[in-house]
Amino acid sequence: MTERIFIGVAWPYANGQLHLGQVAGAYLPADIFARYHRLKGNDVLMVSGSDQHGTPITVRAEKESKSPKEIADRYHKDFLDSWQKLGISFDLFTTTDTANHHKLSQDIFLSLMDKGYIYRDTMALLFCPNCNRFLPDRYVEGTCCHCNFKGTRGDQCDGCGKPLNPEELIEPYCLICRSIPEVRVSEHFFLRLSAFNEQLIEWVRAQSHWKQNVCNFTLNFLREGLKDRAITRDIEWGIPVPVDGFENKRIYVWFEAVIGYLSASMEWAERSGDAEGWRQFWQGDAKSYYFIGKDNIPFHTIIWPAMLMGYGGLNLPYDVPANEFLTLGGRALSTSRNWAVWLPDFLERYDPDPLRYFLSVSMPEDGDSDFSWREFVRRNNDELVATYGNLVHRVLTITYRNFDGQVPTPGEFDEVSNALLKKAEDALDAVAELLNQRHFRGAIRATMSLAQEANRYLDEKAPWKKIKDEREDAATSLYVALSVISCLKTLFYPFLPFSSQKLHNLLGFEGNVESSGWLIAGVSPGTRLASPQPLFTKLDDGIVAEEDARLEHARIS
Ligand code: MF3
Ligand code: ZN
Repeated sequence: MTERIFIGVAWPYANGQLHLGQVAGAYLPADIFARYHRLKGNDVLMVSGSDQHGTPITVRAEKESKSPKEIADRYHKDFLDSWQKLGISFDLFTTTDTANHHKLSQDIFLSLMDKGYIYRDTMALLFCPNCNRFLPDRYVEGTCCHCNFKGTRGDQCDGCGKPLNPEELIEPYCLICRSIPEVRVSEHFFLRLSAFNEQLIEWVRAQSHWKQNVCNFTLNFLREGLKDRAITRDIEWGIPVPVDGFENKRIYVWFEAVIGYLSASMEWAERSGDAEGWRQFWQGDAKSYYFIGKDNIPFHTIIWPAMLMGYGGLNLPYDVPANEFLTLGGRALSTSRNWAVWLPDFLERYDPDPLRYFLSVSMPEDGDSDFSWREFVRRNNDELVATYGNLVHRVLTITYRNFDGQVPTPGEFDEVSNALLKKAEDALDAVAELLNQRHFRGAIRATMSLAQEANRYLDEKAPWKKIKDEREDAATSLYVALSVISCLKTLFYPFLPFSSQKLHNLLGFEGNVESSGWLIAGVSPGTRLASPQPLFTKLDDGIVAEEDARLEHARIS
């Protein structure tokens, strides 16, 4: 039965470059999951877009003396370019600044207001007398009222991960001029989160397939009791509040960004010529997965579900497989200290698949994991090149040279050959199960061990020694190895799409891997092989020192 899978991926703020942490946290796992399901023949809709509003964008724009729109557009272009180079296969990557998104956000706002889930009230806000303006979210910093973390931003604490309001900060200061703000009263709209507390607890309790950390974080948060949250702000950049008298205020960026999942689905449907086509991914037995980093958990397991419950008629998240963080050389990534490997930079110098490989085998699935150039080079050379690449290259070159560039006709399979083919069959089931469960590390490791098995088989059979005197035996073991390689191409495809496609063509298949399905696409005797080329390139050890120096040099301590 064809399943319908909706995949929402965190919308990156269009205020800076993407780094490897974001790739490992959300984009890569989402893409692996999407490619796997497409290969299985399921219907997949994977969307995201750049998050273009809110103070993250305006703070940056002010720093660079540009308009928020200029900043947002510039990074949006960069994002699109990176997705293409890295092979992140969005069905749509749009922005929160489309007319469609503005309208849907305002409609949902009004609908929730109608139902009494959004109400108007006054609140005390921080106002900087020196800058003569209110200080929402990222215009103010102070100490976290939950965990005492210093230098907490006014929207979310980096220490404990809880969302907060600027007025809750202890000893706040204006980020622009460092003055101590005063408190002024202003009128705003509030989302009645408190109304959903019990319903959310009940719902989360039933999600036994969620990751432990996602579940625990969410339940702890809910048990402390949800407070209603202001969902409008005193800023000029953003989606206008659709109520008279609020012309100078905007909808809070988090309230509308999560609506992006739905507006992007509608935009995708509209573009694909069936305006109602989004429904099959949002209603009925479709399952929705939200791939995000752990700092985004409460917005996807509490606020967005509460909004959906209030709005009605649409599916709640089925899973929110949030990843932990990627560290760099043992230290936390830090944008402000420029301690990060930037994605566009990386892709300018290296191929995408080795990065996808590295971040898949050491994905921060159940705990933080580390990227270092030394490990990157080691895994590329010792695993990708030495195990998988070498297997493929050996088999293809020997076959090509000795069997007239064609898949040879095998004789009868012996026990060892049958055992290997059985392992390949089993791997298809095992890896599918791991991918279904969102265990990406396990899935790629299981795939790599099949490549190791195949190498052992080849060493044992040594067809290169038998070409002359035991030709049929050589033909059989090469045929078996080609079949297993064809299977590896499928298993690796979600992780390494570029090299799988290349291998697909080297093996003499037409079209793309995705349409060939999740099975051992049988190689048939007589098929013409393409002239062999290596799948991967060995990296020079010297790049470790070079890249480490580059990082140190760029670092601001
Ligand atoms: N822009 C947010 C961030 O970078 C993520 C928003 S995810 C959303 O942390 F989809 F909910 F918008
Ligand atoms: Zn905190």
